Amino acid sequence: MFKIRLYLYFATTVYGSNVQLLIDKTMAQKKLKWYKLFENWEEAKKQVPLNSLKKVRIGSKTICLAHTKEGFFVVDNECTHMRASLTAGRLNDFNEVICPWHDYRFCLKTGEEKSGKNARPLLTHKLEKTTDGIKLGVYEDEKPSEKDEFSY
Ligand code: FES
Repeated sequence: MFKIRLYLYFATTVYGSNVQLLIDKTMAQKKLKWYKLFENWEEAKKQVPLNSLKKVRIGSKTICLAHTKEGFFVVDNECTHMRASLTAGRLNDFNEVICPWHDYRFCLKTGEEKSGKNARPLLTHKLEKTTDGIKLGVYEDEKPSEKDEFSY
């Protein structure tokens, strides 16, 4: 799956927005696996205060949970440049996470790299309120986890 995403990324660079639509369709067809993280938004705000980042581990995969003035956002924790942990980075006023190693900036809404250095976008995930609490939706076919366990 990673190779397909890499191909689509390079194709997007060459062929433009038509390929981006294909990527969006591909992402829409993937299945999300849901994990309950918090009982409610109050608990989420306590665990992840405003303007902070928190690492969530799900099996072998780590997720970056960000709380900004625009809300909560979830992206892969591994920087697409050289795999630094983004939760060791910082947030800016443009709803971006800045990597601690080389200052690449990634949009928390789209995962797009915004500093113009042409890194692959981050995979974005979902955080939603359900009747059973606040759940994290992670795309299944990226780095599969062996267990249905998570930890902060
Ligand atoms: S490892 Fe993230 S910018 Fe280089």
